[in-house]
Amino acid sequence: MEFQEEIRRKKGREKIVMLTAYDYQMAKILDETGIDLILVGDSLGMVVQGHKDTKKVTMEDMLYHTRAVARGAKKTPIIGDMPINSCNTVEDGLRNAKRFLEAGAHGVKIEGNKPEVIKALINAGIPVMGHVGMLPQLSETYRVKGKNPEEAEKIFQDALELDKLGVFSIVIECVPESLAKSITEKVKAPTIGIGAGKHCDGQVLVINDLLGLDESFKPKFVKRYANLNSVIKDAVSKFVEEVHTGRYPDKEHTYH
Ligand code: KIV
Repeated sequence: MEFQEEIRRKKGREKIVMLTAYDYQMAKILDETGIDLILVGDSLGMVVQGHKDTKKVTMEDMLYHTRAVARGAKKTPIIGDMPINSCNTVEDGLRNAKRFLEAGAHGVKIEGNKPEVIKALINAGIPVMGHVGMLPQLSETYRVKGKNPEEAEKIFQDALELDKLGVFSIVIECVPESLAKSITEKVKAPTIGIGAGKHCDGQVLVINDLLGLDESFKPKFVKRYANLNSVIKDAVSKFVEEVHTGRYPDKEHTYH
């Protein structure tokens, strides 16, 4: 079964799990966990490159990380996140989506409602994941969207339109739970929430957030399942101490 059919089949049956990855080793680990999808997200602009948002991420950056992830993930379908300005026209969208596939992705995610581009990609046989709600490529500030009725209605209509176009799933980012629930109940495509509550058909998190790598970043929806920040600091402190005291390298870690 094609991967997007498998994702569609899960709606209402089994929750979908997607996580981001940006490099070979993390992709290799995630590939062994049996998650449904790996997203090479343009969130790499923040968590890998150290920018304040995703607006400086280029296609070249995305392809570099997609290739690395594809070397590590042999089973899990990989979704490439179309970065800002990569699909402003149908021609650009088609060309860049094909570059993602050549780099090892199985489909692409497009932020916002770009019907012409999405239609062209789907007609060309490229699986497309939609993305509604808070759209980091367009937003000046990261805040919950859809709290007022006009904004909520626009997000709802965008999701319906993406569904009609044939996207195989829709990411819903940072909206009130009730709005995500209404969308999830109305659309055929499975919804994958981030900061959108429990009624979505699946959940996605940025892997760095789930692992607790950045102590200073803790929006309400992020649950840390580990605290790798302190694990790393503890390990490095031990290394520093052992180098200073001459306990490393010992006999066992030396060639004779
Ligand atoms: O870039 C990204 O990681 C994303 C997820 C937050 C859905 O778009």
